[in-house]
Amino acid sequence: MNEEFERWAGRAPAEVWSAPGRVNLIGEHTDYNGGFVLPFAIDRSTTVAVAPRSDGRLRCRSLQVADDTGWTKYVDGVVQALAAEAGIHVDGADVLVESDLPTGAGLSSSAALEVATVAALGAMAGTALDGAQLAAVAFRAETEFVGVPVGVMDQTVVARALPGHVLFLDTRSLGIEQVPFDPAAEGVNVVVIDSGVRHRVGDGRYAERRRECEAAAAAIGVEQLRDATLKQVEATPMDDTLRRRARHVVTEDSRVLQTVEQLRREAVAGIGAILLASHASLRDDFEVSCDALDRVVETAMEKGALGARMTGGGFGGSALALVPDGSLPNVLDAFGDAAFEVRPVGGVRRIDAMG
Ligand code: GLA
Repeated sequence: MNEEFERWAGRAPAEVWSAPGRVNLIGEHTDYNGGFVLPFAIDRSTTVAVAPRSDGRLRCRSLQVADDTGWTKYVDGVVQALAAEAGIHVDGADVLVESDLPTGAGLSSSAALEVATVAALGAMAGTALDGAQLAAVAFRAETEFVGVPVGVMDQTVVARALPGHVLFLDTRSLGIEQVPFDPAAEGVNVVVIDSGVRHRVGDGRYAERRRECEAAAAAIGVEQLRDATLKQVEATPMDDTLRRRARHVVTEDSRVLQTVEQLRREAVAGIGAILLASHASLRDDFEVSCDALDRVVETAMEKGALGARMTGGGFGGSALALVPDGSLPNVLDAFGDAAFEVRPVGGVRRIDAMG
């Protein structure tokens, strides 16, 4: 990375930071309802090298993604959010990006880019931001300056994950608990399978789900669906679609709590059925799955997975499967290049500092 940077920019980078992608073990479409999520950072990442410029220009280049795809809006968004949220002014910079995280696969490549860029530019300006601050700046970059109405899950886990843990996040209080997660110790693997269908959180359907959740909360008379009970969801007069959306969110929150209970007992295998129930709820009640994702989940189960579900916003992207050692070759074979194993790693970190 340093050599590429020197070749491109004509000098050494001042800061090099790397941030991981994530998969969400469970707790989908709950993070904008004040609810619970349980993601972990994965061993695929985006690395950002930066050096200051004195001419006020922001010059960006990716070693993987073409200049004309619009990805630099994330860097622009980070520069604006650094000023607005943290009072850090970046006058100009060369920004070089390298990544082995697929984009549009539901693995938070945008959050990884944002958090690594916040950390690198912040450090370049002489400010060390802590995990909560990094997440806050990156979240503001995405929601306010890039303009995608996401929840807080992705930036938080990318900034704050610990190796060997899932991050149990209360998205209302932003309280976190790091829950040990060591599937390998129980002979279990987490496999991510790309459905091949590209999704975009900004395409309108995600925002539509948010509006439906707000309408359901208003019908029930609670501030957010996090505050509703299943009884209220079933008893309140409302449109059937809204009722199903609300039922997903309320039952998903309780599935997160059940999963945390299992993990506290070191019973990873015990969460398979909970993951499957989450997928069914996302497919039938929340309607954010798609045929390709449903097929991936079915095939993984046929090949011996303990449980599987779509992960991330949906409408495409990836699924995750919990696979015992004995079934791993069968599952990997069934999906070829689309499947890879992941393990829980730490959040954003400094790779190098020079110059
Ligand atoms: C996307 C968003 C997250 C979250 C998930 C659904 O990944 O970026 O904030 O809402 O969808 O759980």
